[in-house]
Amino acid sequence: MSESTPGRAPVVAFGSFTPPTRRLMGPGPSDVHPRVLAAMARPTIGHLDPAFVGMMDELKELLRFAFRTTNDVTFPVSGPGSVGMETCFVNLVEPGDTVIVCRNGVFGGRMLENVRRCGGSAVVVDDEWGAPVSAGKLEAALHEHPEATLVAFVQAETSTGALTEPQPLAALAHQHECLVIVDAVTALGGCPVKVDEWEIDAIYAGSQKCLSCPPGLSPVSFGTRAVQKIRERKSLCQSWFMDLDLQLGYWSSGSRTYHHTAPVNALYGLHEALLMLREEGLDLAWGRHRRNHLALAAGLDAMGLALLVDERHCLPQLNMVVIPDGVDDATVRARLLAESGIEIGGGLGALAGKVWRVGLMGYSSREENVLACLEALQSALAAQGHPVPEGRAAEAARRVFAGAPEPLGA
Ligand SMILES: Cc1ncc(COP(=O)(O)O)c(C=O)c1O
Repeated sequence: MSESTPGRAPVVAFGSFTPPTRRLMGPGPSDVHPRVLAAMARPTIGHLDPAFVGMMDELKELLRFAFRTTNDVTFPVSGPGSVGMETCFVNLVEPGDTVIVCRNGVFGGRMLENVRRCGGSAVVVDDEWGAPVSAGKLEAALHEHPEATLVAFVQAETSTGALTEPQPLAALAHQHECLVIVDAVTALGGCPVKVDEWEIDAIYAGSQKCLSCPPGLSPVSFGTRAVQKIRERKSLCQSWFMDLDLQLGYWSSGSRTYHHTAPVNALYGLHEALLMLREEGLDLAWGRHRRNHLALAAGLDAMGLALLVDERHCLPQLNMVVIPDGVDDATVRARLLAESGIEIGGGLGALAGKVWRVGLMGYSSREENVLACLEALQSALAAQGHPVPEGRAAEAARRVFAGAPEPLGA
């Protein structure tokens, strides 16, 4: 314990913090690529320095590539995914607006909170945890609520591991003259996200999942219909910081005006991470996530462990492993961390104690991580009275790795 008196040096000096070595295989943050860490360690320059402004322009272009969009209004909000989420809602929801929120997990619930706090009237379409959002239920809600102006849903539900295909939902919303907000915090970089092709009006993501960056930045993109709706607002945006008009004074090309001091070094990191994504190619990055998921799933299956989500809707970047009866959730996770330096996640909300969330996101989505996790799980299960013949899981995973790589269509 240190005790300090104002004006005096503390009795006990603290040392620099050195984090332990970990493999981050939970729901995020994921492992940060050494190239990203190196980029972030470069000297800080002024956030209005012409060199920095040039980097910001490149960053926007790289984000357009990652989101597969030509949207002019595409930039990283300074703040975690939750701030990207709020940026979408506070700008697009006015008091009295009716918003349909599709909720199939924790993060759909957060969208609902946002709608309420913006003074909107929320219509909730609930789906089972672990299932994707149902197009049929959304269609019924759209018929029942012709006054609705917005539809919101999560593409990659991190609390359940379920993937929802955005395109059919966006098409339905547009047939009913609604705009669409999509949460792609866990999706971007790990599975197809095609903003223009799917006609998504507003989308937000996170730096700490499949982009291999530390937490703290939230890429967003707004299409022309969304920008138009914001321009036609009758009321002032309730948030000064997230008001898109003010943010764009800083992020638009041309003359930049001070809005807030951007997190300079964090933006170097995102720039580097996006460069790496471009070097790899989106289709190969998506294919890598899928292959590592298939290898992990094969290994888990060989150990007698099941995935919660039906394979057709399973997120490749986040695997929900059903905890077998008689196995203690916290003991296994603590053992993985202490003995192998592997962090996996526990379940959230209704799934707490019932599942492990094993993430293979961004730089964490690597063959060596899949094998290390299978081995560590095998010995943790054996210690809990669930023996698995040694090497069987790794063998099953290696068979998948030995197959031809499977690029997903870009
Ligand atoms: C789907 C989803 N949306 C939103 C968030 C919030 O992001 P953050 O924790 O960076 O604020 C998360 C975080 O895990 C998420 O998984």
